[in-house]
Amino acid sequence: MNLRTFLQDLDARGELFHIQEPVSPHLEVARRIAARDGQPMLFEQLAGFSEWRMAAGFTAQRAHFARALGCGASQLVSRMAEALAAPQIPPQNSDGPCQEVVWDSIDLTRLPIPRYHPQDGGPYITAGVAIIHDPDLGRNLCFHRMRVQDARRLVVRVVENRGTHTAWRKAPEGIPMAICVGLPPHILLAASMAPPEGQDESGIAQAFAPSPMVKAKTVPLEVFAEAELVLEGILTHALDREGPFPDLTGTMDRVRQQPVLRVTAVTHRKNPIFHALLPAGLEHKNLMGMPREPTIFAEVNRVARCTGVTITPGGCSWLHAVVQIDKQGPDDARLAIEAAFRGHRSLKHVVIVDTDVDIYNPQDVEWALATRMQARRDLVIFPDQASSSLDPSAHQSPGQKALSDKIGIDATIPWGASPEDFVRVTY
Ligand SMILES: Cc1cc2nc3c(=O)[nH]c(=O)nc-3n(C[C@H](O)[C@H](O)[C@H](O)COP(=O)(O)O)c2cc1C
Repeated sequence: MNLRTFLQDLDARGELFHIQEPVSPHLEVARRIAARDGQPMLFEQLAGFSEWRMAAGFTAQRAHFARALGCGASQLVSRMAEALAAPQIPPQNSDGPCQEVVWDSIDLTRLPIPRYHPQDGGPYITAGVAIIHDPDLGRNLCFHRMRVQDARRLVVRVVENRGTHTAWRKAPEGIPMAICVGLPPHILLAASMAPPEGQDESGIAQAFAPSPMVKAKTVPLEVFAEAELVLEGILTHALDREGPFPDLTGTMDRVRQQPVLRVTAVTHRKNPIFHALLPAGLEHKNLMGMPREPTIFAEVNRVARCTGVTITPGGCSWLHAVVQIDKQGPDDARLAIEAAFRGHRSLKHVVIVDTDVDIYNPQDVEWALATRMQARRDLVIFPDQASSSLDPSAHQSPGQKALSDKIGIDATIPWGASPEDFVRVTY
């Protein structure tokens, strides 16, 4: 499956919203996506970029990933866990559609790279999966937002101490990097996962669905053969301004000095489709939060019988989780709270519920809080914990891990109580 076949499938189901009139990538595309967040969309014409179309919102629902992985939405967590445990090597093809068109000279202003918000530091690529090779750890895939600096250069946001940063720091001459844009949901999901150090995310993609690769033109890397667009280059040690740009939390991220990527090749499919991923929109949220659900699931399962985990969009798909357990003893919920925080270090608030509560329905979770919880008994506060740098309310000091208070809530039926008092009537 590639982006085109996935969009065709959405279309056949009547789920793809087509915008026929020309839309400008400068602010207008972002406004249209934000107005219908959650809706897969295809912009058929882009003002000033006659060759291109633009897709958005095709990973904005859990159902999109479930369809791409060939499972039900409730099986996504276990499918991710299985692929993590049993990755497969992607086949390497001799050629691929991503290289149907190879540019003679580089001019990034010919690409329909959107500007999302008036305060943005410039036009930004937000759905680019960067592929690098670490000499010690092998291939690594990672999302990086990228600001267009000029016709041949991008400034790349590289979060410290993750795969790309580690490899880049080791190489004073810079590292080769290839960026794939216009990928199907299963590759996007694999790229957003954080497997143990040294595990290549392309193996997770291949375990989800066939994900052939092909040799890049100017750098010693392989790229996804069916990507719509590929940029190749060197991530140098030159630095430039990156930001401001909207963060996952919907608040504005600050300006930093970040590495500059010198682009050495641009290749794309014929009649290419650009993927515009709205920062802090539902696609961004799903891709950030969902990959943490299996790690929470695994940790909770060590101490209790875990039957479901979701990281909620209301909590920026990063800071809040709901964990469902099949309670077997008086301490299960408290142990599950501690385990959930181990499973996702950035988690700030977690609610534990019973199996009769729908974890994907916020009203149902609130009902459990209303009818099963007493603060004195069921609320656990962990002060001054290492937490997420994304949380504007966390205590942040330069070079230090952010600190935050964390809360766990046991919203399960109290152990020893008579269940009839807590069971919902049905009609
Ligand atoms: C949509 C999206 C945008 C992201 N943007 C960035 C970014 O700009 N810089 C960055 O370092 N990580 C970014 N991330 C997070 C990385 O993908 C994540 O840290 C990565 O999966 C960690 O894996 P690694 O340690 O193997 O590199 C983003 C993730 C998503 C889903």
